[in-house]
Amino acid sequence: MSNRRTWQFLPALAVLLPCLVWISHGYTPPDSYLIDCGSQTNTTVGGRIFLADQSASNFLSTPQNVLAETSNSVPSSEYSQLYQTARIFTGTTKYTFFISRTGRHWIRLYLNPFPYDGFDMSTMKFAVLVQDSVLLNDFSVSSAIMREFSVNVTSGTFVITIMPSTGSFAFLNALEVVSMPDEIIVDEAGTLPPGKFGGLTGQTLETVWRVNMGGPLVSFRNDTLFRTWVPDSPFLINSNLAKNFSNIGAVKYVPGMATQDIAPRSVYGTVAEMNTQGSLNNNINVTWEFTIDVGARHLVRFHLCDIVSKSLNLLYFSVYIDSSVVAPDLDLSRISSNTLAAAYYFDIVTPVSESNKILVKVGPSKRFASNQNAILNGLEIMKLTDGNGAPSSSSSGKSVFLIAGVSGGVFVALVLFVGIGYLLCLRRSQRRTANSELSKSWIPLSTEGGTPSRSMGSKYSNGTVTTASPAHYFGYRFPFIAIQEATKNFGESEIIGIGGFGKVYKGSLSDGTRVAVKRGNSRSQQGLAEFRTEIEMLSQFRHRHLVSLIGYCDENNEMILIYEYMENGTLKSRLYGHELPSLGWKERLEICIGAARGLHYLHTSHAKAVIHRDVKSANILLDENLMAKMADFGLSKAGPDLDQTHVTTAVKGSFGYLDPEYFRRQQLTEKSDVYSFGVVLFEVLCARPVIDPSLPRDMVNLAEWAMMWQKKGQLEQIIDPALAGKIKAISLRKFGETAEKCLADFGVDRPSMADVLWNLEYALQLQEAGMQRDKEHSNTIMISELSSELSSLSHVDRILAAAQFDASSEGEVSISQVFSQLVKSEGR
Ligand SMILES: *[C@@H]1O[C@H](CO)[C@@H](O)[C@H](O)[C@H]1NC(C)=O
Ligand SMILES: *[C@@H]1O[C@H](CO)[C@@H](O)[C@H](O)[C@H]1NC(C)=O
Ligand SMILES: *[C@@H]1O[C@H](CO)[C@@H](O)[C@H](O)[C@H]1NC(C)=O
Ligand SMILES: *[C@@H]1O[C@H](CO)[C@@H](O)[C@H](O)[C@H]1NC(C)=O
Ligand SMILES: *[C@@H]1O[C@H](CO)[C@@H](O)[C@H](O)[C@H]1NC(C)=O
Repeated sequence: MSNRRTWQFLPALAVLLPCLVWISHGYTPPDSYLIDCGSQTNTTVGGRIFLADQSASNFLSTPQNVLAETSNSVPSSEYSQLYQTARIFTGTTKYTFFISRTGRHWIRLYLNPFPYDGFDMSTMKFAVLVQDSVLLNDFSVSSAIMREFSVNVTSGTFVITIMPSTGSFAFLNALEVVSMPDEIIVDEAGTLPPGKFGGLTGQTLETVWRVNMGGPLVSFRNDTLFRTWVPDSPFLINSNLAKNFSNIGAVKYVPGMATQDIAPRSVYGTVAEMNTQGSLNNNINVTWEFTIDVGARHLVRFHLCDIVSKSLNLLYFSVYIDSSVVAPDLDLSRISSNTLAAAYYFDIVTPVSESNKILVKVGPSKRFASNQNAILNGLEIMKLTDGNGAPSSSSSGKSVFLIAGVSGGVFVALVLFVGIGYLLCLRRSQRRTANSELSKSWIPLSTEGGTPSRSMGSKYSNGTVTTASPAHYFGYRFPFIAIQEATKNFGESEIIGIGGFGKVYKGSLSDGTRVAVKRGNSRSQQGLAEFRTEIEMLSQFRHRHLVSLIGYCDENNEMILIYEYMENGTLKSRLYGHELPSLGWKERLEICIGAARGLHYLHTSHAKAVIHRDVKSANILLDENLMAKMADFGLSKAGPDLDQTHVTTAVKGSFGYLDPEYFRRQQLTEKSDVYSFGVVLFEVLCARPVIDPSLPRDMVNLAEWAMMWQKKGQLEQIIDPALAGKIKAISLRKFGETAEKCLADFGVDRPSMADVLWNLEYALQLQEAGMQRDKEHSNTIMISELSSELSSLSHVDRILAAAQFDASSEGEVSISQVFSQLVKSEGR
């Protein structure tokens, strides 16, 4: 009897729900954040737009990520589109969302591990935390899945923390934070054994199973809350005892009972019922078995709708969980006050599970033997992630201690314990990533060849370029046939580089001029915009340290750029990954000085600074004399007007070099180039890739790694072994300090390119000059004396002095001579 009373209580509860407002379909969530991580384009799935990663970057705390894309086929699923790209988190990262209406929200995490550029997502382990809940802990995933959580968001600022486990990374393919009607989860539920469970509203729930009985998969397209309902047949213990029935048209939503938001018509309109055909007696249970996590309470929601009966009061059946009855002798006609086929649901919270299996059964009522049948229309199993005392983790089993820890004090202690542990981890990881200057890539990393080969076509431009034809900017338009001749008809043997933009060929014009020919492989809008920017920039700027554009060709929709040939390829290819003799320290310094001059010229020679935006070793080319020239202006942008401090723009650049401040604020200044140049300086010193996922965690990001050693004052520990013993300590110190300043967290704290240039000249002078005293101590004194003398030069003077280097560029004046002049000329 007491059982019955419990179950009669439920419908009454339902009547009280203020659910009439959203009785029909079309719930519009007040908050909806959908992000297709790693994607360069917005992705529409089921009519909803998942934002391109870039469009969602303002939610992110740090740019320490890699954007990954797979060209392999992804597991077919409703979310396949979202599984194509991912963001790899190399450090703890937070997403922060503004919540306009607190209360229940879905958090959906889409995960499909794939290999990318040395990263293996299937081995990554990480945690995902929100508010007080640990959604995932030490979690790893081997195949595509979507994890769904329902969180009661209690503050207007909602933070999701993605935290790689020690020595690992994290990744996400897509992320959703979307309001759901609060009424979906009411505070009270029945319990097992029969009783009342209060306090569901505070709970974070994780969807474990969501099943449509007796029918096909119900796509999120047919669900007002974007839920997917899977068919029940795989869970049936004895499928001979069940049969399908469907009558979607019969379903009625009765005020006060279930609504379309609770479950859609396609779920209530199909049913699994008893199949007594092959059975001797009519007394059978239809049984489903589901795997669940050990050590957690689960909310089991039964969806029922009598679409099988011809009239009222014919169907009486019982519902069981494991061997316990949770709804004896259920009479749906009475619950619905005599409406046939009214949609109805009820909730049961299970005790903390001791087994990883749960059985759900329906069987005919023994009290009313007339019409032997039992039905179930839908089922949801949600894990309660709070109040179990342990962070829910799918990969690790829970200890007995954690299971036992559900009750009061222990629970509080555990929450504290987990919380403190989390804070400590966070602190540690923050310390680890302090000064981390990791950055991210908006492009798939391209294979760099011998000459400029950046993946131009794969980046996108945002319409900063005018639409005038290239001829408007530049006169040297080449006929296609001339380029065909120059490159032996684009012969494979002439290829010197391949990038996302296309292939780079070496060639020889009819007058014998050697050229590098970059041929875009598609006339996409993006590629076209960058093609134009490149022509526009290079025709405006002529400088010894900027690569020269000889011409272009846009015949037959071709996008071909013809540059002066640079014998020694990219700085990057000359630094590492080759068999050539290593560059000496003086050569490296001179290359850095050359590149710095090119940048300084870009920043200062016109009324408006031009910001390169993609400064990296692969965009610094070396001619036959190892003279450095900046290349690849496809992303360049005019700097701020005089009365402004920055340009607001979408973030572009290359992973490992990108200015974190620019990334955070999307405000571009020359100082972003300075940052990237600082990374190049460390790259030159250490001769290793700026991002190398094959290295131990701490070493992956060069900027972070080098800054750590620089701050310790032990930069010499990590320099290119080929330079060991060949750099004077004093020169190395100057160089290290210069790079460090370039990597300052805030642009305002970074030097101008003129200052950088000056300091590099200084480092060269220190290396070369007759400062023979070996003892570091005396060197230090000399440096500081000299520094204070030189720093008395005003900023303007120094820029003028730097400009003087360029003016003298035609002459034979050596860098050191100019430097001496500079030192002398400041004696005022
Ligand atoms: C994606 O859509 C948003 C909002 O509709 C828009 O602001 C953004 O520019 C789009 N991004 C891309 C890369 O198309
Ligand atoms: C969210 O939690 C707060 C505090 O536990 C509670 O007052 C509120 O009713 C909850 N809201 C919902 C929609 O569950
Ligand atoms: C019920 O329908 C589902 C999907 O439509 C099907 O896969 C399953 O085999 C059917 N089950 C029975 C017992 O007929
Ligand atoms: C989903 O909805 C469409 C139309 O809205 C309907 O044609 C289709 O049958 C529905 N699918 C299911 C499984 O109910
Ligand atoms: C159905 O399952 C319940 C709970 O385990 C059990 O008590 C009952 O005997 C079962 N009925 C049949 C016919 O097996």
